[in-house]
Amino acid sequence: MKTILITGANGEIGHGLISRLAERNYVRIVALDLQELDESLKPKVHRAITGDILDTALLESLSATYNFDTIYHLAALLSTKAERQPVLAHKVNVDGTLNLLEMAVGQSRLQGREIKFLYPSSIAVYGLPDLQTKARAGKVKEHEWLTPRTMYGINKLYCEQLGIYYARYYRQLDAEATQGLIDFRALRFPGLISAVTVPTGGTSDYAPEMLHAAAQGKPYACFVREDTRIPFMAMPDAVEALLQLEAAPRQKLTRFVYNVTAFNPSAQEIFNLVRHAFPKAQVTFTPDLKRQKIVDSWPADVDDSAARADWSWQPAYDLRRAFEEYLVPGVLQRYQT
Ligand code: SER
Repeated sequence: MKTILITGANGEIGHGLISRLAERNYVRIVALDLQELDESLKPKVHRAITGDILDTALLESLSATYNFDTIYHLAALLSTKAERQPVLAHKVNVDGTLNLLEMAVGQSRLQGREIKFLYPSSIAVYGLPDLQTKARAGKVKEHEWLTPRTMYGINKLYCEQLGIYYARYYRQLDAEATQGLIDFRALRFPGLISAVTVPTGGTSDYAPEMLHAAAQGKPYACFVREDTRIPFMAMPDAVEALLQLEAAPRQKLTRFVYNVTAFNPSAQEIFNLVRHAFPKAQVTFTPDLKRQKIVDSWPADVDDSAARADWSWQPAYDLRRAFEEYLVPGVLQRYQT
């Protein structure tokens, strides 16, 4: 039996991850979220806790109760919300991650073994200065353009470094060995599109919002220009990437942080696919110049060759399959009355 802690369990990735992990009969899930866990997920978890990752007493009591094998630390404020509440974002995204890493250290000491710590980072860690540079940059590699322009991107980039610090250099002056406590592994996700949930507070939200609005017969005003291009991935692939990275033998991993991606359509191309499935879709492009700037600073594509080489990453869904076999049937089922 493996015991797994998932923070941000009620979020989009949490929904997908819990559903997939619950298929395994040797897994016991402890789900933590600020909001009460959705009723549909409750039967899939061992315990659902409504609470705050900033509540260290709560984390300590969890740590005293369970021996966690793996922590999926998904809780975060996304980029648009973080821009509106930067101090809160910093608290949740950075202090929250620090609390979870400290909890993992405590767990490691109690259990006398390494604790796996899976961390979803983001394309928001990249920051390209202008559209010409973005066009020239093409597929961005993990070490390039690490000059984020958003609180969220800065938080994610810093927490990647924090995770590496805990894995490799934590308390390096101490007499006793302090390495080998945390096995930190991070993925830089592109925009994610789910058929079953809609995101809140992100800036890549235009793609899922457009699809979910069309499926409900609602008009949608897209907040970015038609030519806006960033990488995306279907949610089942995002969940699969987390599970595959978790399962990869450590000696195969040449880095702590990996890009992953599946396709990178423009907003117009997304609209074309949405309109193909829902011919009555009413979409207008009315860019919000401020949110546009954020998306324009994110790369048009990322190079995920390290993930492909080290742990055989390969998305199951390309753009066409994502729409035809997952997104369209999924939203049709979701909104059927
Ligand atoms: N989807 C996220 C956002 O838009 C990016 O990681 O904030």
